[in-house]
Amino acid sequence: VGVLDDRVAIVTGAGQGLGFGIAKAFADEGAKLMLVELAAERLEARAAELRGQGAQVAAMVGDVQDRAVARDAVARALAEFGQLDILVNNAQALAPPIPFIEQDDEHFDRILRSGLMGTVNFMQAAYPAMKGRGGSIINFSSGAGFIGNPGQAAYGATKEAIRGLSRVVAREWGADQIRINMISPAANSPSFQAWFKDKPVELAAVKATMALGRPSETWDVGALAVFLASPACFLTGQTVQIDGGQIMP
Ligand SMILES: NC(=O)c1ccc[n+]([C@@H]2O[C@H](COP(=O)([O-])OP(=O)(O)OC[C@H]3O[C@@H](n4cnc5c(N)ncnc54)[C@H](O)[C@@H]3O)[C@@H](O)[C@H]2O)c1
Repeated sequence: VGVLDDRVAIVTGAGQGLGFGIAKAFADEGAKLMLVELAAERLEARAAELRGQGAQVAAMVGDVQDRAVARDAVARALAEFGQLDILVNNAQALAPPIPFIEQDDEHFDRILRSGLMGTVNFMQAAYPAMKGRGGSIINFSSGAGFIGNPGQAAYGATKEAIRGLSRVVAREWGADQIRINMISPAANSPSFQAWFKDKPVELAAVKATMALGRPSETWDVGALAVFLASPACFLTGQTVQIDGGQIMP
């Protein structure tokens, strides 16, 4: 038996990296999945991979910035699997480092709308399905905002905004037994690798700030998400750093 047997989960940005790592970990534990992803070609390959291991997987191409996509994803999860227990708001537009003074409306819009508003859209869409039966929502923050990484003003602001949002709603929806927690990773995803490509000195410097000497892997983050999503977990409103021991708040 899996710890998520018969649970139904929506995972956004599931086409690669941590989103896929979480989807795979959920599938390994028996969950039924509704995957949402902007990049169509990635999504189909990943959904097929999970179906190949016996998981029940529905998949939808869409942009989390769009409220209609959130409503459709919840409606499809309910139509195909009859319930919704878990929501993982992992999707986030990439944020190449740019000095704050050069970050224009377009930059702020892209980062805020995918991260903060994508999370808002899916949480509000999921609430009617979770109210009355409880659920687990997992949102994503980042050390970028917590530490204050230069060049990541819009991204850091977005990720800290998601933490504030999550704490407020954790109290509002606590009576409904809906738990809301944040994962704050430093993890070896394709985006992380692209970031440090051809920058061995910078990568070594970052690793030196980590107690364990390396970032987490996608499956480490998957294992954490399984715990946060499982009925045995009693955490809410919390941020879990899974970054090799970089930030110790
Ligand atoms: N990897 C790290 O070290 C790290 C550090 C801090 C925070 N995070 C956060 O963890 C999460 C996952 O990071 P990752 O490194 O796996 O990212 P990634 O860029 O490798 O993957 C993100 C996935 O989300 C999809 N996506 C992007 N915008 C979308 C949108 N608007 N609608 C639907 N799908 C969209 C992308 O196509 C991609 O498949 C993100 O929220 C990120 O901000 C990651």
